[in-house]
Amino acid sequence: MYHAAMNGTFGIHIDRGARQALSAQIADGIREAIRDGRLAPGARLPSWNDLAAQLGVARGTVRTAYEELADGQFVIPSGAAGTRVARRLPLGRPEPEPARTRAPFGGFPKGATAALPFQVGVPAADLFPAALWTRLLGQAARDTAAAPADYPDPRGEPALRAAIAGYLAMARGFACHPSQVFVTHGYAGALSTILRVLPVQGADAWFEEPGYPFARTALGWAGVRPVPVPVDADGLDVQAARLRAPHAAIALVTPGQQAPLGATMSLERRVALIEWAHAGERWIIEDDYLGELQLTRRAAPALASMDPHRVIHIGTFSKTIAPGLRMGYLVVPEVLVPAVQEVTGTLEPAPPPVIQQAVTGFIQQGHYLRHLRRMKRAYASRRDAVSLALDDAGLAWENGGLSLRIALPDGANDAALARAAHAAELAPVPLSPWYAGASARSGLLLGVTNVPEQQARALVERLAAVLRGATG
Ligand SMILES: Cc1ncc(COP(=O)(O)O)c(C=O)c1O
Repeated sequence: MYHAAMNGTFGIHIDRGARQALSAQIADGIREAIRDGRLAPGARLPSWNDLAAQLGVARGTVRTAYEELADGQFVIPSGAAGTRVARRLPLGRPEPEPARTRAPFGGFPKGATAALPFQVGVPAADLFPAALWTRLLGQAARDTAAAPADYPDPRGEPALRAAIAGYLAMARGFACHPSQVFVTHGYAGALSTILRVLPVQGADAWFEEPGYPFARTALGWAGVRPVPVPVDADGLDVQAARLRAPHAAIALVTPGQQAPLGATMSLERRVALIEWAHAGERWIIEDDYLGELQLTRRAAPALASMDPHRVIHIGTFSKTIAPGLRMGYLVVPEVLVPAVQEVTGTLEPAPPPVIQQAVTGFIQQGHYLRHLRRMKRAYASRRDAVSLALDDAGLAWENGGLSLRIALPDGANDAALARAAHAAELAPVPLSPWYAGASARSGLLLGVTNVPEQQARALVERLAAVLRGATG
């Protein structure tokens, strides 16, 4: 083995016993020296003769190494002026140009997130009945493993569809037949399915301002133009919607608890919305994502309970059991059943039966309602603890249901504040991205579900310190 001196040979090591050709070893050594800056862009390399002499190899070997480097655009042969390191180095594989896509893509929404305090939209990790769930899942695994290998029903397991219909009748005041219920991959899967079914390409949609950003994006992907409609303490302003988008064919609303402000849509507005839908070939999509998780009073019945013809109801188990299930349901008026069946059978089949069976057991054996009651009690008490701590920290807040909202001066960079809080292991959500229009309000949404009472004060103080630090 021959170790070249650092001087003049850039620390190239060549090993005569190695299987790699000497020229390739020299090229590797020079590439490394270029990459880590020992050889600067534009620097002149020694002549073939000089380097060959220093390394004790044939001149042709160095020449071959230089040619390999020139092929890879690491060096530029410059005739009599010798060989120089390229001024712009190749970046390994060239960066691929993003492909042209049908939808404007605003970026991957969010990867897996650990449930940090104040995170919005996740159920309490400590209230999840893990032992019970493990037992139900084990039972479901045994049952499904014993079943013959066959394609499951893409609409969902019949027992679960019936259990969901029963739950909706009892808890959401909404009577429907199990044939109208489709088990989906959460709200996301339900929305995706129904947007494939409705003939709304090119139409306007009434969309809450502020509203759930991913649903707004999804409408755009389906060729629907979301028109921002203001919400107030009574929910979506139907009058304003009629003026802003008189020809809309669809309205997407969160009447139970407006996302993210928390208002329950008033009866008057519900009636006005349904009247609008009946005056034409128009559809209302009800995102009932929090279901009956209403803390201040008895949850209002689902909007779908008021109208069996024009309201499409979507629910999710993400908030009431766990987001990791990726399970929800789509309940459609009877006239849409055949079309939805076709879409689920083709592109949006229900989640794996094993998970569906575990959820069926959870509902049928009474655990679901018990768990909801327990969560509601705990969340109400967590929300009181957080709101008290906010008062004591001198931070004004507004009630948003399962979240509290800290208003910031308009134009304040709430996204930067949320990032600063994240560095302190807190996960408030910035309010401004929920707006599409120019009049975005700035604020922070604080989820209360994962803030146990005894930690509320310390966590709020930590958040207050972040806000003081960031705003001076
Ligand atoms: C307004 C709204 N709808 C629906 C969902 C639930 O979506 P999924 O069932 O796909 O988890 C969320 C979750 O954050 C939400 O904020």
